[in-house]
Amino acid sequence: MTQAVEDTVGTEVQRGGACLCETYARVTERAALAGARWLGRADHEAAASSAGRAMREELDIQPIDGHVVIGPSDGLEELAPGQQVGAGGEAVDLAVDPIEGSGIVARGANGAMSMIAVGPRGSLQTLPDMYMRKMAVGPRARGAIDLRRPIADNIQAIAEAFGRRPQDITTIVLDRPRHHDLIEEIRQSGARIKLIQDGDVTASISAAIRGTNDHLAIGIGGTRQAALAAAALRCLGGELQAQLWPTSRSEIEEAAAQGVDDIERVFRIDDLAPADVIVAATGVSNGDLLRGVRYLADSAWTNTLVMCTRCNWVRFVDGIHFFARERREEVRLPGF
Ligand code: FBP
Repeated sequence: MTQAVEDTVGTEVQRGGACLCETYARVTERAALAGARWLGRADHEAAASSAGRAMREELDIQPIDGHVVIGPSDGLEELAPGQQVGAGGEAVDLAVDPIEGSGIVARGANGAMSMIAVGPRGSLQTLPDMYMRKMAVGPRARGAIDLRRPIADNIQAIAEAFGRRPQDITTIVLDRPRHHDLIEEIRQSGARIKLIQDGDVTASISAAIRGTNDHLAIGIGGTRQAALAAAALRCLGGELQAQLWPTSRSEIEEAAAQGVDDIERVFRIDDLAPADVIVAATGVSNGDLLRGVRYLADSAWTNTLVMCTRCNWVRFVDGIHFFARERREEVRLPGF
């Protein structure tokens, strides 16, 4: 039974038996280790499917009765929505993305990661696979943004929340033709822009963590990515707002069939990830947020972010994964 207890630093946390949150780091680590082998090899399908198979194998040995509700878009059967995973145990719903940004891996570029979000059964909102217009910020600017207002007003509000000028704010936008007007408006506001080729979940998380010098992730990306970003921002105390962005009448009908009658509705974190959630993300290629997999002679090194609202922590975890029992190389300090 779950009960409120005080932990060692006097914070009230909900405890109901041991939480499995840290074990999910193994799941994203394993996917990243498989996917990162394909860095720069111009084969995004191979990267996605290797990572996906590895993620599935690791999930299947975890003590969970897992139900995939949000899965990768590339038709990877093992992790398609509806799949049951795990060795049996705690009933959970999973949103999985073995590689967020398989194109990044194929190009050998920065910022790809492997990611999973886990919540109690029925707690992760599913939406039709289409585009969403979204904006994400960290705790400092929470309550200051409004997706329905002009971008310049939002940038001004974010700048004020940080006690800075708009010129000191960095926005992250996917480099797509559909963002032409948005990019012009951001330029007019004076804010800086980091144009990325792929990976708007990484961008949203980056905007919510101090030290990255990113303050706002904005633009049109996938619904799956919005759900994953919402889960991560729940853990980080940030804010995300998102609206469906249908590109055809059939997508509007699909949304209505899934219960979204008001196509203009603004979804927030409480809609997309309304309950306690665990998020794990491992760097596949280097980025401002996470370092990518490094392969050594008899081991590989991973950098993972694990967050759990139930245990109330955020951890950055370095892992050294040996390929054999015999040690031939020294263990290195992270970063060396
Ligand atoms: P995948 O990992 O599924 O390839 O998604 C990469 C991505 O860049 C997402 O981060 C983003 O939401 C989406 O693609 C944008 O879609 P599109 O490439 O159609 O503009």
